[in-house]
Amino acid sequence: MKLPSKKESDQVRLGVEALCNGNLVIFPTETVYGLGADALNPAAISRVYQIKNRPKNHPLIVHIFSDQYLKEWATHIPDYAFKLAADFWPGPMTLVLEKNQATKDFATGSQNKVALRVPNNSKASELLGEFSNRGGLGIAAPSVNRFGEVTATTIEVIRNEFARLLSDRDVIIDGGQSQIGIESTIIDCTNKVPMILRPGWVTTEMIQKSIDMKVAKTSFRTNTMHSGAFKSHYKPKAKVYLDINPKEGNGFYALSQFQTPLGVIRLGAPKSIEEYAHNLYLALSEADRMNIKIVSVYSPQGDGLASAIRDRLIKAADN
Ligand code: TXA
Ligand code: MG
Repeated sequence: MKLPSKKESDQVRLGVEALCNGNLVIFPTETVYGLGADALNPAAISRVYQIKNRPKNHPLIVHIFSDQYLKEWATHIPDYAFKLAADFWPGPMTLVLEKNQATKDFATGSQNKVALRVPNNSKASELLGEFSNRGGLGIAAPSVNRFGEVTATTIEVIRNEFARLLSDRDVIIDGGQSQIGIESTIIDCTNKVPMILRPGWVTTEMIQKSIDMKVAKTSFRTNTMHSGAFKSHYKPKAKVYLDINPKEGNGFYALSQFQTPLGVIRLGAPKSIEEYAHNLYLALSEADRMNIKIVSVYSPQGDGLASAIRDRLIKAADN
């Protein structure tokens, strides 16, 4: 595995080479880090599933350079999806669309739908742009974590926890700590009205305002495999308890307005909801690094990003 060198363009150049040679690239996005493979290479994608220990029918998001690449992957794209793409890409939003005939099952976990996203991160854009110049159509990339476990948002967690699963030919691109810290909003755009499959930074209100249309109530009674299909996810080794008072020796993550009881190990005291999301996965990873067995988390209140955070916390705490 090639660790990041000092020169940014070198890292990206090595990343593009790795993708073209069928190897993997860990790259930063504004949400979380991704474990990327050429979305047209079945062997490379198969390694992603193997490394993550991820069920084969759990589809990956294909990251594309711009909305110009939508039609390479999807068909029957509704007007409202083009509007969302225009308003929120590059950005923390994934659109699920009907896949076209060229899109192979290995890129979609054998679903008849494909998930697409244009990330908003300079290194990710550079990687996607250079890869496109070499004929690449997209990078299939799940979050960097073993299936069901905490997602990596820093290069340190990746080096300590994940790098050993890679080979010498894979590449890691250092982008510092992920800006947003939780995964993108996923919107199913295969019906007359959009439906949110996974909440995120792009909220229901933002979507409704953009397309002047009501979002359908989220229903998980579909055959599609998506985040909501799993009750438990994003889990550290420590047991996570929500909204209970921490005891001596427990880890504790809560907004800064809450004080730390004596003997409790504070894992973070974010001052805003944004900072809460930014540092959440890092705090949970830190608990494991410190071998803390129980973590008490005070969940943030409110709509929007706070409710997206609660979606992750409820799954992390499913014990
Ligand atoms: O922010 C993000 O979305 C990050 C960064 C790296 O882009 N990626 C990410 O990927 O969170 P992953 O694989 O950890 O989560 C992707 C989710 C999965 O829950 C998957 O089920 C859903 O996207 N998904 C992918 N393709 C889908 C499809 N065709 N239909 C429904 N859901 C799909
Ligand atoms: Mg994930």
